[in-house]
Order: sequence, then C-alpha cells, then structure tokens
Amino acid sequence: MKVQIQYMVVLSLLLAAAEGLVQDFCVADLSLPTTPSGYPCKKKVTEKDFAFSGLAAAGNTTNIISAAVTPAFDGQFPGVNGLGISIARLDLAVGGVIPLHTHPGGSEIIVVIEGTICAGFISSFANTVYLKTLNKGDIMVFPQGLLHFQFNSGKGPALAFVSFSTQNPGLQITDFALFKNDLPTELVAKVTFLDIAQIKKLKGALGGTN
Ligand SMILES: *[C@@H]1O[C@H](CO)[C@@H](O)[C@H](O)[C@H]1NC(C)=O
Repeated sequence: MKVQIQYMVVLSLLLAAAEGLVQDFCVADLSLPTTPSGYPCKKKVTEKDFAFSGLAAAGNTTNIISAAVTPAFDGQFPGVNGLGISIARLDLAVGGVIPLHTHPGGSEIIVVIEGTICAGFISSFANTVYLKTLNKGDIMVFPQGLLHFQFNSGKGPALAFVSFSTQNPGLQITDFALFKNDLPTELVAKVTFLDIAQIKKLKGALGGTN
C-alpha cells in the first residue's frame, strides 16, 4: 500500500512537470484538435513556423463597427503555441469601435502606431473606469478578464497592435452576448433592466432572435 502511494506521488509529479514547457518550443500542429493546454506539438519545424506575415495588410473595416481585428494567435501563428504570448492588428476606420468586451484568457497591451484611439477598462472592484486617449507611440494595459473598449477618436484612420499574455485570449463582446443569440427578449430585459424596444432594435441590428 505504502509503495503504491509513493508510486502515485512520483507519477503525479512527473505528469505535473510535463505540463510546463520542458523543451524549447511546441509549435502548434494545426492538423490536430486543440486541447485545454493548447495544440499538440508539430514534429517537423522550420523558421517559417516562427514568423508570420498575416498582420502586414490592413483588415477590412467595412462592417457595422468600422473596425477589424486581425489575429496572430495560436490558430494563425503556430509558433506561439505554449509560449503564453500572442499579438493582433487593430484597424479602426473613422468612427470605428471595438465594442465593450473581455478576454477571459489573458491581459492585453495596446500600442498605437497611427491615429488617435480612446481606450478604457472598468475594474470589477467598485466599477471604476480608467479612460485614456492614446496617440502614436502610446501604450495602455488592460488587465485580464476586465471589460474594456477602444474607439477611434481622431479624424483619420487609426492603427494599433495589441499583444496578449496568452497564445489565445478568447473574446466575448458584451452586446453580442446579449443581442446576437436566441436569449429571449423578456429574459434579456429581466437580466439587464433594458427596455424591450431597445433590445429588439439591437437584436435586429446584430442578427439575434427571440
Ligand atoms: C470588405 O468587406 C465588405 C463587406 O463584407 C465587402 O463588401 C468588400 O468587398 C470587402 N473589401 C475587400 C477589399 O475585401
């Protein structure tokens, strides 16, 4: 019995160690399904796996938010798999906005390359708002999981890059969660205190039903 317990302890220690990176890298094998700890490692790796040209071009901002997010997360940029880091390109046309949202998986840093972006987040403690207008070269950090937003407050287009403390930050846009699904209008009203007419209008604009 005692020997068995010792064996179990050693085994669990070995398994725990295997969860950290015990090798230089683990480039994502995108042909296999992702797991809670990321993608399985690709066997044959080249320099191409550690570089990505997908952020060179502006995203298409012809949409209801006049904005585009082009990600270089593990699914697009296999080299970041397992490294706890990723990046995305943010294009904001005049008037463009990334609506109130959260990233469950990691904190974010924005760096403005061109234009003027007003950004803010809301703390979960006391709902304090931290709001800042950012110009070229300015950066701002958004702590993990907190609601935040960015919008173009300048007269021309804006460009920024956002990096994350995770290979895949996840994204939940508050308005989409409330109005872009089949959650019944009466329930949305019940849990938000919003008027039925406003809910119906937003459901209509975003493609929600019920
Ligand atoms: C941008 O998206 C709009 C709307 O989907 C589309 O009509 C347009 O062709 C796209 N533009 C480019 C350059 O892909």
